[in-house]
Amino acid sequence: MTREALLKLVGTLDLERKVRLLTGATVWRTRAEAAVGLREMVFSDGPAGVRGEEWDERLPSLLLPSASALGSLWDAQLAAELGELLALEALRKGVHVVLAPTLNLHRTPLGGRHFECLAEDPELAARTGAALIRGIQAHGVAATAKHYVANDSETERLALDVRVDERTLREVYLAPFEAAVRAGVWLVMSAYNGVNGTTMTAHELLAEPLKGEWGFDGAVVSDWGAVRLTAESAEAAQDLAMPGPDGPWGAALVAAVRSGGVPERAIDDKVVRLLTLADRVGALGVGRGLPPRAWPGGTARRLLRRAVAAGTVLLRNEDVLPLDVSALRSVAVIGRHASTPRLQGEGSAGVFPADVVTPLDGIRNRLRGQAEVLHAPGPDLGGRPRPLDPAQCENPLTGEPGVLLRVLTAHGRELSSEHRHSGRQLEPPLAPEAHTVEISAVVRTAGEGKWTFGVGGYGRMSLAVDGQPLVEGEFARDTEDPAVIHLDPPRQHASVWLPAGHPAHVVARRELAPDTGRAVVVTAAAPEPDPEQALSEAVGAARKADVAVVVVGTTEGSESEGHDRTSLTLPGRQDELVAAVAAANPRTVVVVNSGGPVELPWRDQAGAVLLSWFPGQEAGAGLADVLFGRAEPGGRLPTTWGAALADAPVTETRPRDGTLVYAEGLHIGYRAWLRSGREPAYWFGHGLGYTTWSYDRLQAASTHDAHDGHDGHDGHDGHDGHDGGEALAVEVRLRNTGARPGREVVQVYLARPDSAVERPVRWLAGFTAVRAEPGETVTASVEVPARMLRHWDTEVRRWRTEAGDWQVLAGRSAGDLPLRATVTVRRSSNRP
Ligand code: BGC
Repeated sequence: MTREALLKLVGTLDLERKVRLLTGATVWRTRAEAAVGLREMVFSDGPAGVRGEEWDERLPSLLLPSASALGSLWDAQLAAELGELLALEALRKGVHVVLAPTLNLHRTPLGGRHFECLAEDPELAARTGAALIRGIQAHGVAATAKHYVANDSETERLALDVRVDERTLREVYLAPFEAAVRAGVWLVMSAYNGVNGTTMTAHELLAEPLKGEWGFDGAVVSDWGAVRLTAESAEAAQDLAMPGPDGPWGAALVAAVRSGGVPERAIDDKVVRLLTLADRVGALGVGRGLPPRAWPGGTARRLLRRAVAAGTVLLRNEDVLPLDVSALRSVAVIGRHASTPRLQGEGSAGVFPADVVTPLDGIRNRLRGQAEVLHAPGPDLGGRPRPLDPAQCENPLTGEPGVLLRVLTAHGRELSSEHRHSGRQLEPPLAPEAHTVEISAVVRTAGEGKWTFGVGGYGRMSLAVDGQPLVEGEFARDTEDPAVIHLDPPRQHASVWLPAGHPAHVVARRELAPDTGRAVVVTAAAPEPDPEQALSEAVGAARKADVAVVVVGTTEGSESEGHDRTSLTLPGRQDELVAAVAAANPRTVVVVNSGGPVELPWRDQAGAVLLSWFPGQEAGAGLADVLFGRAEPGGRLPTTWGAALADAPVTETRPRDGTLVYAEGLHIGYRAWLRSGREPAYWFGHGLGYTTWSYDRLQAASTHDAHDGHDGHDGHDGHDGHDGGEALAVEVRLRNTGARPGREVVQVYLARPDSAVERPVRWLAGFTAVRAEPGETVTASVEVPARMLRHWDTEVRRWRTEAGDWQVLAGRSAGDLPLRATVTVRRSSNRP
């Protein structure tokens, strides 16, 4: 429908009815309005899968690799296919709006949601994000560019005020959002934080550049609970306050309009935008054109498996990979993450996957009947105990694997009772008299020793084993953060000595105090074997086997929404484990299972190092494809990995007096490393395949005409905005010098050493991938969009291109650029 037609519809509604639409109906739904043919719209997180309206482990979702793995693809086509997969999951689950992608940046390696963000480089994040958006929206499902803007860390995330200069905002943090608008995104989510003194849901940045200069015609939805001011946010270009049904708009906003505090046309514009969204997703007038569809058979899983291999980054390879199955007799698979990998980060992005393939499964499946697989878990990681799962316990009533969930009145009368799979229940069913949630299970003790049990939640809680009280306690709610209250409340643990083979009857209860959420978490951890023995068993297995694969990673509770990280060290004795295994077997492959950077102090001792990131449900299948050469590891680092946290140039995530200063300005990621003169362990863009390449020649026109207007002296504003103008064509000739066919990501950077304005030492300006057979020479054509030559001129507040000599560099990472050329940029008033 046209804007005029929608405005006409809006004109039929009175003020109350219009304002009513601007706050959600429920946590995940918007309101319907029969008078204009508007139905409810369902929103769902995002970004690694589509959860749907319920936090219910019985309603699984396909789990994609997390965003840092997607940032490693450097492949818009594959990112778009994954976007399509999200759309089809959304249709299957009746979801109209997917709350993805996250377009904030890897400003520091410590960011709690680093795993959920695509890259440290704005252009790589922009291209990957835009591809995801196109894929999602191709099926009539809305994507959401979030969180607008400067929401790059978690500490004090609800209140934090980011101080960032205008040029840095434009060139770095806003750039991926601008690309999202160019890609036609239907929603933008305003962030919790403030920028330069104003909270984002009331910020002028929602009007300019978002809706004005960039021409965004979709709706701005708030992050959940982020609208806190009535008139200010309504006057700003905030359109929809989520969640509902309550919020700071409603009657207060009606009153503000009536008293003249907020113009009614601002309300009309919001409603038009909401109806535009509804029209796009099929929630207005005649129904959704597309019937719910699922991907046929194994296609979705095959795509996920391909994505795992394509996002896996090979950091180092001393001729160990790929492994030749026919020449292997045995493989030692070592580490806790081999059998219990981290598939996703924690927080609102979480979904419940089914059919998970662990690294150990993947390797076993591939080697079945061909080589022996020895598994040694290694020492305990010291992380938090995991919630009860069906492999560990039974429902005391039915004996089925899993737990019994009951809701009781204050007098202990049962209101509901159901079988569930997990000891982590985030939305136990609510009835009017509900007072206590109870989770019980029979845990069969595999070994004798000290078992540790835990219960988490706000309010009063208790846990008993075999009738003996172990935990009695109370947590008062101490935060406003929904990611903590509803997803990860505090836990209390206690231990008890149990004999082996004992059916331990565990009963945990949590009282439902008002305003404390409903989440209950019950955990049980088996006694840990002697760490020295576990270590020596791992080393023994490595020594015996032809090859050792050690899977290491971060543990539950770190890499989570709601908290930043404080250390990049692998937890427990994992560093010691890797060093010992590598010393025992030079053919040791280390697989790092984390969403963001960790320190790899043993990296020069390992035969090969792979980053699997948080790979999603096909983790082990994709890993086996890479290990045994069925697929090349396709990933390139979307973020620079330092050797040690202490070396990283930007690490501050803790606000001072509520303020976090982005003092590094334009210089984040590899730009900061370049400026500091420090050498990281692995540069942005780095990643090996299974062949080698020689970069032979770089060709670019020696002159380039920039069409961004006059010098500004004549008063003309002849600029093309950020996006227009002619691209700079760069051709890179390279040869596959190895013995295998391969894919190479050819990267082009720009530098402007003699600039009159401050610049990064160099910045990514374009990239493309090529494939070649052994010995074959190919030419990569890389387009450098004109915007990559522009800087934001804060004096005249527009994009400018400096005339003069520019360096064009090409190669395989920000730190390995063997080819260069000079291009002279001439300013032309000859506008195209
Ligand atoms: C997160 C968003 C998420 C929303 C809804 C917020 O706490 O920051 O990314 O989409 O919750 O779950």
